[in-house]
Amino acid sequence: MKIDAISIFPDYFDALKISLLGKAQAANLIDFTAVDLREFTHDKHRTVDDSPYGGGAGMLMKPEPWGEAFDFLIPEADSETQIIFTSPAGEVFNQALAVELSQAKRIVFACGRYEGIDERVVEFAKSRASVRMVSIGDYVLNGGEVAALAIIEAVARLIPGVIGNAESLLEESHNDGLLEYPSYTKPANWRGLDVPAVLLSGNHAAIAAWRLEQQVKRTKANRPDLLGE
Ligand code: ADE
Repeated sequence: MKIDAISIFPDYFDALKISLLGKAQAANLIDFTAVDLREFTHDKHRTVDDSPYGGGAGMLMKPEPWGEAFDFLIPEADSETQIIFTSPAGEVFNQALAVELSQAKRIVFACGRYEGIDERVVEFAKSRASVRMVSIGDYVLNGGEVAALAIIEAVARLIPGVIGNAESLLEESHNDGLLEYPSYTKPANWRGLDVPAVLLSGNHAAIAAWRLEQQVKRTKANRPDLLGE
């Protein structure tokens, strides 16, 4: 998968050189490029922001550098490219969207800063690719970079070959609408705390039943909304 991110802080994406995503890039499973939005400015101060029409607090990202960045990355309309504007005003990211995006050929992340990006940039982007505005949760970050990193990690680990043990993808939180069951490793007793006896029993049916029970209990306690409650 080709992934690009447009940002005024491309160094944020250095984190993608670490661990499994670094290996995935070395193995050519992912081809990632961070693009500095300021490369597409033409004034001495490399200005990317301006005050909002109609007033209001803070500054907005001006459209011209974004237009040039899209011209550079997506010079012609391409229905196989997905542009994602990371924004607290977007649809909320979840595992189902991660699965959907993991099928994409190319994703271009547009990471806004300040109070956001001139809305015409989103309209214009639709003439070049499929566009979605995506939030990673109901809180406000200083910019879209951390959100893009979270989405990239959740999506990339679903690409075949990125995770060594593909089976581990089947047994994790959100895969079946429930949170994951609690897990334990050795020693069986640690600081006076025992591993639940059923896990030492060797009774696979009993273990499976216990795990499901724990999943439901945890989901009820932490995320009743997932159970429609
Ligand atoms: N930019 C700022 N806050 C954000 C959020 N919650 N999700 C995505 N992008 C953001």
